[in-house]
Amino acid sequence: MALSFSAASHSLCSSSSTRVSLSPAAAVSSHPSPPLVAFSSSPHSLSSLRSVASSSLFPHSPSLVQRKHPNRGSCSTVVSPTCAAAASDAAQLKSAKEDIKVLLRTKFCHPILVRLGWHDAGTYNKNIEDWPQRGGANGSLRFEPELKHAANAGLVDALKLIEPLKEKYANISYADLFQLASATAVEEAGGPEIPMKYGRVDVSAPEQCPEEGRLPDAGPPSPADHLREVFYRMGLNDKEIVALSGAHTLGRSRPERSGWGKPETKYTKAGPGEPGGQSWTVKWLKFDNSYFKDIKEKRDEDLLVLPTDAALFEDPSFKNYAEKYAEDPAAFFKDYAEAHAKLSNLGAKFDPPEGIIIDNGPAQQGEKFVAAKYSTQKKELSDSMKKKIRAEYEAIGGSPDKPLPTNYFLNIIIAISVLVLLFTFLGNNNSSDYSGF
Ligand code: HEM
Repeated sequence: MALSFSAASHSLCSSSSTRVSLSPAAAVSSHPSPPLVAFSSSPHSLSSLRSVASSSLFPHSPSLVQRKHPNRGSCSTVVSPTCAAAASDAAQLKSAKEDIKVLLRTKFCHPILVRLGWHDAGTYNKNIEDWPQRGGANGSLRFEPELKHAANAGLVDALKLIEPLKEKYANISYADLFQLASATAVEEAGGPEIPMKYGRVDVSAPEQCPEEGRLPDAGPPSPADHLREVFYRMGLNDKEIVALSGAHTLGRSRPERSGWGKPETKYTKAGPGEPGGQSWTVKWLKFDNSYFKDIKEKRDEDLLVLPTDAALFEDPSFKNYAEKYAEDPAAFFKDYAEAHAKLSNLGAKFDPPEGIIIDNGPAQQGEKFVAAKYSTQKKELSDSMKKKIRAEYEAIGGSPDKPLPTNYFLNIIIAISVLVLLFTFLGNNNSSDYSGF
């Protein structure tokens, strides 16, 4: 039995890669979309998938009913490489980025969104030329066959977070939403700004998912060899393997998902978000170089080190980079940002071919949200907030470090006015006192 349900994705079936951009309203009304997630009733996943199907996150989804595209039959069941969903619209991308920031601030879901983007892109095989057979960032992870891969355990929760965004932004492909969410999560957790581009075209059917086994295993017999085998297949090098592994500065491993990690530790038992799991770092919602520092210092039983993490300090070539990143956070940020951008483009087909770049707008006004504050309960003013306070003082000629200069002239006038009022008042009182005699 095949179960499928849809949300309002906007997809366009075209035989060329010409970009089609509709206004949001037109997009929503003109193209009811094919099913986004087509789930089969495997015993492993049926219960969680049923709960997705019945979830209120999909208010417009006729659950368990397969919806047909009016112009082309059902794209969910027919494999057609030309039947690709639309790529994305720049205005919607910018707006979606703001919504993702709100989502991050309310759900503390930075880590799982980073993992979502990585797992969609990380199936890329540089030895296969054809799209989408080569895998990579093409949105295929939304389909059941790929979601069911053991490496993707738990990512259905990330998909649930993305679905309402897809409902709202019909002109953004899933592939773009996954990568936008991941890059925004890194940036919002205090990490580097990632030079992203968008316009990734989505695959349109579950049959276009890559086969299982393309993502790395955390505990292979020879971890360094395994990492090279998997990441070299993606066209990535040793530096990029080490830099990207630094993403484990965020998040936790959960035994009920991957089988790795403790059920909870002193750093995870109180959340934020769902409590539990074992983190690699103490402040697991803060993106910094503590992953490398913590592995190097092997300082705490409560912090996770997977065999593939340990390999970064054992293999001589990996070790060069791992040592450098433990010492030099700026070098880590620079290499991470480049490697993340490269990862996010793997295997992707862009429409338009050069991609769409969204600028991040002017420097942020107000205090930047720092998720890590919530994992340590520590309240400290951010640099941007301190700068804002200083600017407000300076606008009126002062400084937060010293009291405002006194305006003596004004003070003298105020003192004289008070004295005049006092004398007038006393004078009136005296005359009325005597008036009774
Ligand atoms: C180097 C090979 C890698 C291996 C073997 C690996 C393995 C794992 C495992 C076992 C988990 C725990 C999943 C769970 O139980 O929920 C995990 C989580 C995570 N991984 Fe990796 N990973 C690798 C590379 C990467 C890369 C390249 C990135 C991103 C660029 C990444 C980002 C994450 C994040 C953010 C989490 C935390 C997810 C959460 O808290 O929900 N990983 N990884």
